[in-house]
Amino acid sequence: ELREVSRREGAAVPHALDLTVRPRRNRKAEWARRMVRENVLTTDDLIWPLFLIDGHNKREQVASMPGVERLSVDQAVREAERAMKLTIPCLALFPYTEPSLRDEEGSEATNPNNLVCQAVRAIKKEFPEIGILCDVALDPFTSHGHDGLISDGRILNDETVAVLVRQALVQAEAGCDIIAPSDMMDGRVAAIREGLDRTGLLDVQIMAYAAKYASAFYGPFRDAIGSAKTLTGDKRTYQMDSANTDEALREVELDITEGADMVMVKPGMPYLDVVRRVKDTFAMPTFAYQVSGEYAMIAAAANNGWLDGERAMMESLLAFKRAGADGVLSYFAPKAAEKLRAQG
Ligand code: PBG
Repeated sequence: ELREVSRREGAAVPHALDLTVRPRRNRKAEWARRMVRENVLTTDDLIWPLFLIDGHNKREQVASMPGVERLSVDQAVREAERAMKLTIPCLALFPYTEPSLRDEEGSEATNPNNLVCQAVRAIKKEFPEIGILCDVALDPFTSHGHDGLISDGRILNDETVAVLVRQALVQAEAGCDIIAPSDMMDGRVAAIREGLDRTGLLDVQIMAYAAKYASAFYGPFRDAIGSAKTLTGDKRTYQMDSANTDEALREVELDITEGADMVMVKPGMPYLDVVRRVKDTFAMPTFAYQVSGEYAMIAAAANNGWLDGERAMMESLLAFKRAGADGVLSYFAPKAAEKLRAQG
């Protein structure tokens, strides 16, 4: 059979190459491949983003993200239980805000009783041992879909930062463990750290979306939080130009200097080079966000039978580990965790 043939190949095959080095030897069987494997993905590497919606006992399919739903708070608590059982360490929460609650200033962002804060309290009450990350940015709450305040068509940096600090504080006071500013305003990490410390919230961590690019891959997310139709223009005056990596290092360095405990690169797979440079340069806990468009591509191709969805999912997640990431925010988190646990 196969193994016998390969063992005797040199002697048996008339045209055998005279090779001293044969890299395939280390790949000859699963046990051998396991022995030399350089990177592993575990459930500890996963952060699971959930979309929230107002109501009770409600689950709504996100059209552009097959398999992903918007969840009412009680359903989000059920998913938190699932995450606990799957030993996923952390959830990330994103709200779909009712259009009637959106305004020019994104005032709902600083409402201590908004959907995100309600979900944080409900999940923490049932499952205090699971980590919760909250996004800081105004786009789920503004009528124009931008992450900051606007005047005369321009994003106001410093005025926005003041609002972001208040948003971070209501989330932290609700019990959120990790504040994750995704707005890309200048100076927001320092301002949020100062606000948290002044309030005595010394243990609340900051995971900065430090290198966040203006990307086409956020499309399905904007669909999920309901800002796709309302967004006017693009986010290129605050999110990064996808052509740059030196700039990513400067952004990351700033956020570390300003007090970030962890840094993130976003999107994920198209920016693995950035993940590697950031990890090698700063040796900080470094995360990557496998964003909605990346999820949608794999899910859609799998649903069409064009690729093996499970294998593509696991391969894409492992790629982040290989690039140096300490963890990944991924909509595949529960599926991947189930698979990892089944593998033992
Ligand atoms: C909000 C935010 C976005 C994402 C995370 N936080 C969208 C955006 O910046 O427009 C995208 C996540 C995803 O696509 O999965 N600022």
